[in-house]
Amino acid sequence: MVDHFVESQQLDKSLIFSLFQRADHLRKGTHDLLKGKVLATLFYEPSTRTRLSFESAMLKLGGQVITTENAKEFSSTVKGESMEDTIRVVSSYADCIVIRHFEDGAAKRAAAISSVPVINAGDGRGQHPTQALLDVYTIYRELHRLDNLKIVMVGDLAHGRTARSLSYLLGKFQGCELIFVSPEHMKIGNDIKEYLDRHQTQWREETELNKVLPEADIVYLTRIQRERMSQEDYENGKGKYVITHENLKLVKPAARILHPLPHVEEINIPLEIEQTDPRVAYFRQAENGLYIRMALLEMLLNKRIKKTQKTKLI
Ligand code: CP
Repeated sequence: MVDHFVESQQLDKSLIFSLFQRADHLRKGTHDLLKGKVLATLFYEPSTRTRLSFESAMLKLGGQVITTENAKEFSSTVKGESMEDTIRVVSSYADCIVIRHFEDGAAKRAAAISSVPVINAGDGRGQHPTQALLDVYTIYRELHRLDNLKIVMVGDLAHGRTARSLSYLLGKFQGCELIFVSPEHMKIGNDIKEYLDRHQTQWREETELNKVLPEADIVYLTRIQRERMSQEDYENGKGKYVITHENLKLVKPAARILHPLPHVEEINIPLEIEQTDPRVAYFRQAENGLYIRMALLEMLLNKRIKKTQKTKLI
């Protein structure tokens, strides 16, 4: 039985907190815990943070990395090889595969065929579960709690897989309220709303960002996923919801602004504010990704954290 991590619902609270503890420990230095192990990063879509932080995480744990940074162009996919055949072969070269793919559900398909753990680094409009894990790790480090939070999620919530994965994780904590703010044609999916209802997590949709900013503990901004829509849809959504120096004043002093990054026009605040205002947490968030991914790799490859049946990864 191989453990894979393809969707954030797989995690439960005790596993999440174990990973936080381990990430806090691992951030203190380099280690040789994964000496002799090989990580394959297979990215069919562009990435800066996810690929490089996974690769850095593996190197800091004493392991090694093999990679194809643009698998759509530089792997034998160009010659017509199926993803399944690629995974079958790569899983004989590596001890773990991190995959990003442009199709929803691709990571699950890869997991079904792989003989080594598969980690979903983003599949189309589906999920980006390690991003959600680093998001909750960041919230916990910044606010010291994951219960009783008001989280305002902003932007393209229809195509943004990070907002979806984060909603699934937040649904596991008590007393959170999710407030979704998006253009009409970029609303979060009904599957997420139904999941939140089933988990007694309050949610509502709003259209005015400035109205909800004062009540937020977390403002989670997302980029409009231009590559996943028509030019017309993009033009109709772009620039509608922006954090500026002006409306940042509406955000509580103890609240935090998060963004999975890269950010484009949805954040327009002066560099000196971005560098000094403690509410701006998205660069610390990106750094946290390195340590939580170290903890995840260690868990999957060394099986360090004992998992209960409930937390068994598929
Ligand atoms: N947040 C995130 O997934 O960033 P990259 O696309 O740079 O990996």
